Amino acid sequence: MTKVVDEKKLIIALDFDEKSDVLSLCNELDPKTCRVKIGKQLFTKYGPSIIDDVHNLDFEVFLDLKFHDIPTTVKKACIEAYKQKIWMLNIHLLGGIEMVQAAKEARDIHSPNSKLIGVTLLTSHKINDFQTFGLSERTNIVSQLTQIAIEANIDGIVCSPSDIPNLNIKNEEFMKVTPGIRLENTSHDHASIFTPSKAVELGSTHLVVGRPITESESPKAIVEEINSSII
Ligand code: C5P
Repeated sequence: MTKVVDEKKLIIALDFDEKSDVLSLCNELDPKTCRVKIGKQLFTKYGPSIIDDVHNLDFEVFLDLKFHDIPTTVKKACIEAYKQKIWMLNIHLLGGIEMVQAAKEARDIHSPNSKLIGVTLLTSHKINDFQTFGLSERTNIVSQLTQIAIEANIDGIVCSPSDIPNLNIKNEEFMKVTPGIRLENTSHDHASIFTPSKAVELGSTHLVVGRPITESESPKAIVEEINSSII
């Protein structure tokens, strides 16, 4: 499989409770070597100012708010998000094609150079969850949700590395952003985990890594280790 060449494949999930921890990690890292992800916790606590704080340190921001609502509401929320000059935003593909198109319209009008990606199924979902929804197989659901992303012509998806080989995606530019990355065998709450190099081998174009970096005593060294393993 041909890989999209983006020298910054690594996205660090800034899942901290306090802004001081965010700033101290960002101050230690080089924005040329990674991007950062701001999620629901930090955004809910600090609002858009937390984005400004990391922008001021030259990091590009993936705003991970996973919008999922009626199309009009999602469009309006996306407009506000894109006004923050973020690198990338995500939505849930389970919101359906109209919702995804509404998000794309917001992006196209307000920040055409920013990315928009769709979450397929969370990496924390286990087989019992699907059975509860009356669904049996992860692969089929992820494929169908990926088709929504392709049909709406957004930039890519969030999925597990294990999903990618079954998706048959022709467009080399299509982003496959994958969480559930571990350097060693601690899964935390992901149903399955992959090393950075295995994830890239399976087709990941970007890796979301949180705790292996944020809980490390030497985050910079882990960033270097990951980057050198996925060149
Ligand atoms: O600490 P860890 O590396 O497990 O962090 C995973 C990150 O990926 C979390 O911030 C989580 O919100 C995010 N995630 C995601 N999309 C998924 C699953 C996890 O953005 N489908």
